[in-house]
Amino acid sequence: MNAMTMMTTNNLNSKPKFFGRRKGRVIHKAKSFLLESFLPRILVDTTPKNNIADCFGEPKQKYCLEIGFGDGDHLAALAKREHNTGFIGVEVYRNGVAQLLSLLTGIKDGNASDLAQEIGLTEGRVDNVRVFDDDVRLLFVALPDASFDKIYLLFPDPWPKSRHAERRFINADNLREIARLLKRGGVFQVATDHPIYKRWTLEQLRTNPDFKWTAKGSDDWRNPPADWAETKYQRKALREGRRPVFFEFERL
Ligand SMILES: C[S@@+](CC[C@H](N)C(=O)[O-])C[C@H]1O[C@@H](n2cnc3c(N)ncnc32)[C@H](O)[C@@H]1O
Repeated sequence: MNAMTMMTTNNLNSKPKFFGRRKGRVIHKAKSFLLESFLPRILVDTTPKNNIADCFGEPKQKYCLEIGFGDGDHLAALAKREHNTGFIGVEVYRNGVAQLLSLLTGIKDGNASDLAQEIGLTEGRVDNVRVFDDDVRLLFVALPDASFDKIYLLFPDPWPKSRHAERRFINADNLREIARLLKRGGVFQVATDHPIYKRWTLEQLRTNPDFKWTAKGSDDWRNPPADWAETKYQRKALREGRRPVFFEFERL
């Protein structure tokens, strides 16, 4: 998987262009089964919502959005710890969505007996995760202002060539939506290991009047926040000798 992508336009009349991969290797029996049988139970649709709580069975104390959750490690770990937070995870990549469902239910490929059992969440979980399995920009319009306490964008594809800069997820249109969706005082959390994207993120956010970079010193962006859970792309970066950064921007 190598694509954190974006659409070239936020024009709502045409489906925005997505540059990443929607599918990878064949999804085997158990995960296909989860996509067919379990995903519909936790899907969010694009019907406009009056209140973010409408996405969940009951109101939650806090709400978080993770954009491009990949294999879902971070989302699944936080949701397991924070029972009173409602999480919306968004991912286009079908194999990633299937992997998140596997983490939530404990059902894995290759275990045929899993398919016979009733699907439920693993022990210690509550029903606090919802999924949108398409481009997040299609969901933005359905979500009310000031919905989220925190929005995560973790290891987006850097699109390092300057001729591809317009594909980077962090851009003026998407930042406008992220600012609209965050509560005042809410946090936009960005992690990246790519030098070009590190610079790009700071350039875009530090000149944006809706956000303030909260770091007081280098420890604040060199180390992950206390509630962090490692992601697949973070592990890959560390294996390959790249040092990730963890930027937090407060919604003003
Ligand atoms: C480089 S991967 C990082 C995955 C994960 N966050 C991690 O750290 O392991 C970027 C992911 O973002 C997803 N993505 C890119 N653009 C997206 C969009 N507009 N809406 C939803 N997901 C998107 C891609 O499908 C891909 O899985």
